[in-house]
Amino acid sequence: MSRPFTFGNLAISVDGRISTADRALHGFGGAEDRDLMEELRARADAVIIGAATVRDENPRLQVSAEKWRKSRLDADRSPQPRGIVVSRSLDFPWRERALFTESLVRPLVITSADHPASRIADLQHFADVLIVPSSESSLSLSEAMRQLAEMGLHKLLLEGGGELNFAMLAEGLVDEFYLTLCPLVFGGRLSPGAFSGSGFPGTAPVPLELLSIRQGINQRLFLHYRCLNAGPR
Ligand SMILES: NC(=O)c1ccc[n+]([C@@H]2O[C@H](COP(=O)([O-])OP(=O)(O)OC[C@H]3O[C@@H](n4cnc5c(N)ncnc54)[C@H](OP(=O)(O)O)[C@@H]3O)[C@@H](O)[C@H]2O)c1
Repeated sequence: MSRPFTFGNLAISVDGRISTADRALHGFGGAEDRDLMEELRARADAVIIGAATVRDENPRLQVSAEKWRKSRLDADRSPQPRGIVVSRSLDFPWRERALFTESLVRPLVITSADHPASRIADLQHFADVLIVPSSESSLSLSEAMRQLAEMGLHKLLLEGGGELNFAMLAEGLVDEFYLTLCPLVFGGRLSPGAFSGSGFPGTAPVPLELLSIRQGINQRLFLHYRCLNAGPR
């Protein structure tokens, strides 16, 4: 297998944003969305996020509900999925984040080779570090996925944010997305978008196939898509 089966999960406003312009609104999907998030985490070997999400929030990436913990154990999985952070800059406060100080499973950080040895050594007190080839602004996510598969991580949950969603989708590394559409408008050109990055040109938007749609409580719409540009695994 050359990459994990990867499924994304995100809650979005009607205007396709994943937070407000001040980046202060989290968990707006509501209780049913939280349950879906836990169900998807329970199915995953690892959960991957971008460093801006670690800068803006204190994500734990854990399964906390008893029924979903039990489903992991019944499926012979480790008690918790492994948390993974993608960061080109290594500019995020690992010492102040629960993922790095409280996780049962040692987290993993994917980054480039060009950091001082002392910084990598400090991070290694809290996490394993995976070095992959990089350009000035980005890392080779295809190579990162190949190495995750080699490490035995075959089911990967992508929990955003929008920069990482875009980068993964652009490289054909995402198989499916679960999207919770919330009846809210955030507005604002600075509000992070669901798939931000540099964007696709007009000739090449990524096509998706709608697998299911369901109306939940509090007027949330639960959408499940297959990504038709997904590369081979
Ligand atoms: N509603 C939801 O479901 C949901 C889910 C997740 C997050 N959020 C929110 O979304 C916001 C963050 O989203 P965002 O789009 O700004 O950022 P993001 O995707 O969380 O993180 C972007 C950062 O990840 C690293 N990164 C991503 N792709 C990379 C690549 N190809 N190569 C190297 N590094 C890469 C870079 O880190 P460095 O800068 O360190 O190099 C980049 O700055 C937060 O406010 C969070 O609360 C909402």
